[in-house]
Amino acid sequence: MFEKLYRKRVLILFIFLTNVSYSQNIDEKVEKLLSQMTLTEKIGQMNQYNGFWNFTGPQPISGDSKKKYDQLKKGLVGSMLNVRGTENVKEVQRIAVEESRLGIPLLFGFDVIHGYKTQSPIPLAESASWDIKAIERSARLAALEASAAGLNWTFAPMVDISRDSRWGRVMEGAGEDPFLGSMIASARVRGFQGNDLSKSNTILACAKHFAGYGYVEAGRDYNTTEISLNTLHNVVLPPFKAAANSGVGTFMNSFNDLNGIPSTADKFLQRDILKGLWEFKGFVVSDWGSIREMMDHGFAPDRTEAGKLAILGGSDMDMESSIYIEELEGLVNSGKISIDYIDDAVRRILRAKYLLGLFDDPYRYIDSDREEKIIGSKEILEGALDIAKKSIVLLKNENNLLPLKKQGQKIALIGPLVADKNSPLGNWSIAADKGSAISVLEAMRKYKRNDLIYKQGVRLINKVPDGFHEQVSINNDDRGGIEEAVMAAKDAEIVIMVLGEYGYQSGEGRSRAKLNFPGLQQELLERIREVNKNIVLVVMSGRPLILNWADENIPAIVQAWHLGTQSGHAISEILYGDYNPSGKLTMSFPRSVGQMPLYYSRKSTGRPGADGEDQGSVFWSHYQDEKNTPLYPFGYGLSYTKFDYSQIKLSSSKMSSDETIYAEITVTNTGRVKGREVVQMYIHDRYASATRPIRELKGFQIIELDPDESITVTFEIDKSLLEFFSANNRWEAEPGDFDIYIGTNSDTDIKAGFVLND
Ligand code: NOJ
Repeated sequence: MFEKLYRKRVLILFIFLTNVSYSQNIDEKVEKLLSQMTLTEKIGQMNQYNGFWNFTGPQPISGDSKKKYDQLKKGLVGSMLNVRGTENVKEVQRIAVEESRLGIPLLFGFDVIHGYKTQSPIPLAESASWDIKAIERSARLAALEASAAGLNWTFAPMVDISRDSRWGRVMEGAGEDPFLGSMIASARVRGFQGNDLSKSNTILACAKHFAGYGYVEAGRDYNTTEISLNTLHNVVLPPFKAAANSGVGTFMNSFNDLNGIPSTADKFLQRDILKGLWEFKGFVVSDWGSIREMMDHGFAPDRTEAGKLAILGGSDMDMESSIYIEELEGLVNSGKISIDYIDDAVRRILRAKYLLGLFDDPYRYIDSDREEKIIGSKEILEGALDIAKKSIVLLKNENNLLPLKKQGQKIALIGPLVADKNSPLGNWSIAADKGSAISVLEAMRKYKRNDLIYKQGVRLINKVPDGFHEQVSINNDDRGGIEEAVMAAKDAEIVIMVLGEYGYQSGEGRSRAKLNFPGLQQELLERIREVNKNIVLVVMSGRPLILNWADENIPAIVQAWHLGTQSGHAISEILYGDYNPSGKLTMSFPRSVGQMPLYYSRKSTGRPGADGEDQGSVFWSHYQDEKNTPLYPFGYGLSYTKFDYSQIKLSSSKMSSDETIYAEITVTNTGRVKGREVVQMYIHDRYASATRPIRELKGFQIIELDPDESITVTFEIDKSLLEFFSANNRWEAEPGDFDIYIGTNSDTDIKAGFVLND
């Protein structure tokens, strides 16, 4: 035993020393290369351009393309984005490596947000699985595909905490909670980067958008943010810190101004916190054109000043503003900024290239055989299906309408998204083949189990491409299909309606002031309900929608997000009960837009009301015309079975700051089928130097139980779980009383208490 331990220690020491010498080695190489570079070449490394050729045919190299091509040859480009596919990457890399003086290889970045060609569920959906291993695996599979297409850098994960579903980019994050968000951030970084960046199937990850972008006022994308130090440290920064701790190679800053300073120039965030306090060794890329946008923010009068503010503020690479390439040299030569800033940025960028092994072999990501074999392979498709099933959340299931019977039911499939093979791919599916998702209709037909009839009811409209994506939208004036859908519903035993948002209705620039079903879908739902009450509503969306009417009138509701390539299969398995739903919401579902921002870990206020209930009085913190509570709370999700929870057993009702106590709870499957449950633990710090949320997620475990089986789940509680950024401006656990809640969602009332002593 001792010998085993000793051997393990020697091995760890060996790995540690090898890593130290490996990284010293890299540092030496970086210094050597840096010493050979001219100022112009150094600045070139800090410049990132968007793809500029279409390699599908002979292209005239003229205009902007000619300029970029010449700059590549002069070593004035450090990275490209949106150049993908081995052939394309190879050609651009070849110019950088073989035609420029120093032959420094390029980084090739792309938004691999939830898959490359094969789409896994949108990140918000994946977060609803709460399955950290599955999420890591999903990122790993995305890296396999992306790296096979020649890419070595993804602009993911987006780790912005978001509590306002008007903001379209909630689809891209992990929801409203910093504890879960941090675990998911780390998982995604591990998945993309693996444990060795120099392998040809791992890629650099990028934690974005640093910081506060999820807090845009009124949920309007790109808008201003005002975030207190308390919220910044306790809510917004933790997932970024987790990503940094997990070794994420890069950060991207954000479009918003935070407390008056555009993030792109925020020295406090980028230099003091990220590179200072957290000792981050990677580099920071600006967001698209965000250096230039500081002029529109009213922060920089001209391009020169924008460049100066950005570099002083800690932005190392300029995405698509061309400001660094045009302005930095003059700024250094006139003594307005020190060369040290440039050297520091270039060191960071070169280091990333060494870590990726690009100096050993700049073409290591380029292997067309691998590209052919990996993309869309069985392993990738199976992985996408697995996480898609785990991401689905059962919101309501009155009288066990679900699962469907395996045969003999006459089913009408109705809705604009039933047969849609694009929407399930979701936003950020740039590399996916158009129409490559399995639709609900297709998958249900494959089962050949029931008598199916399909009616669209409300049509999708094909719109002109927006230059990037082919757009569809949901009809809001053509009632032409409604009557025949009603007829079909009348005749069916069960109606499955697939409604929601089309794929590009959420995402960047897609904020919404209304959170209802777009177009005529609500009208369709109500018309169908008049003739058939047995409706299963499948909601596809990139964000929480308002489902009040459905919750009151429809017996079964399934939240199916945008689940990616395997969407239809995953939904069908759920509907038929081949997979028992286990997803839990990671954003509270609102009752009204007016509740935004809405999140479970709110503060009590001085007038909370008794249990938040209406006391018949006016002067407490509430709305006159809406409840305070969400329609479905954070952590909520049903199963086809039932779980009973015991009371909490605490190993002690007090602890000191160097002690650990244990909270136990027994969960029993009292239903008739096997099920998976996410057991959640929340803690409330009753009194503190700064007010604390009424409860915060501090642990969770996924268990699987056969009918009648019980499992006792144990949570460990130590000081680290009780720490917060206090009024003393530091992370600390303050002695005092704590409540602990354990249960099936954030609304659980199974409760115990303990004291933290001095
Ligand atoms: C702008 C987005 O905000 C960012 O997330 C993305 O990575 C870049 N565009 C590049 O596409």
